[in-house]
Amino acid sequence: MELTNIPYIASSSSSSCFYYSYSGCACRGRRDGKLAIKASAAGSKHAADSVRSQLFEQETEDSLSGPRSSWHIRRRDFASAILLPFLLPRISISIAAEIYDASIIRSGVRSVLTKAKAAGVLRLVFHDAGTFEIGDKSGGMNGSIIYEVDRPENTGLNRSIKILRKAKEGIDNVQKVSWADLIAVAGAEAVALCGGPEIPVRLGRLDSSTADPTGKLPEETLDATSLKTLFSKKGFSVQEMVVLSGAHTIGGKGFGSPIVFDNTYFKVLLEKPQTSSTDMAAMVGLRTDWALTEDDECLRWIRVYAEDQARFFDDFRDAYIKLVDSGASWRTA
Ligand code: HEM
Repeated sequence: MELTNIPYIASSSSSSCFYYSYSGCACRGRRDGKLAIKASAAGSKHAADSVRSQLFEQETEDSLSGPRSSWHIRRRDFASAILLPFLLPRISISIAAEIYDASIIRSGVRSVLTKAKAAGVLRLVFHDAGTFEIGDKSGGMNGSIIYEVDRPENTGLNRSIKILRKAKEGIDNVQKVSWADLIAVAGAEAVALCGGPEIPVRLGRLDSSTADPTGKLPEETLDATSLKTLFSKKGFSVQEMVVLSGAHTIGGKGFGSPIVFDNTYFKVLLEKPQTSSTDMAAMVGLRTDWALTEDDECLRWIRVYAEDQARFFDDFRDAYIKLVDSGASWRTA
């Protein structure tokens, strides 16, 4: 597998933050970086410094007046997404090269993502990262999905790639982002947008320039034993496999609302839709979803998550972080 080195190296200055978090990461550098871009775009280091000090004052004010509402955060991010193309021509390449601002990636993603598109984007994460295999260290979260859209298991994912390509073009104009980082952040955004947990995502993945080996993703006809074997080859426990499968709570498989990320997936599975006499109910879920209920260990976790949504969110967050770090190669600062 060939890896492309991305021509941007984040500086260790306060304008870079290697973690992205959905809501108001306490990292001052993230906001600092975004405002610094605006100031730098105006062509003056002095201006950048002055924005940093304004920011500090603003944050002091924020901390005195309590947290800003998510509406404020969204409005601000939306505004910066809109501003990106206008700022671009005025940013010098040397300045852009120093910046790796997570909020820019997030804003770019938010400008193209809707709840209706969230499921496809989240599925993209599994289909990029899920090719990983510990044994031969092949596959993983490396953006290779863009070379694999013609595979039968990836049918329909072209739509999600197209959506993210739009975001990528806007973001790349300000700072180059790898497909792997973009998809990892987009999946986390998709989950949060549908009401799921907020997931911090480490940044700095390198992209592969070739497709991953075939035959690494689970077929939808697998039974629980085969699923367990397949996931363990990727480093996932049974609990992690079950909690990640909870991603099917959004999308078109019939587990409650297609745009609400909650624990309905597990509740519905306990009702054994596959045994229903009505056609509609029997359409709910994949065979692999049903298979989980036929295995004692999986069933125990299904019960835990059906009863405790907060536990589902916590464990999903942890497993998602593991998934998007699977087999990733990281750039060095
Ligand atoms: C356990 C093994 C899995 C199998 C066999 C599997 C297979 C599938 C299949 C066949 C679909 C339907 C695609 C379609 O409607 O065209 C689907 C949908 C989906 N999968 Fe999986 N999947 C698995 C695990 C996962 C995991 C781990 C994730 C993410 C963490 C995930 C995320 C999704 C999402 C969000 C959808 C809905 C997509 C939409 O409706 O647009 N899946 N999956």
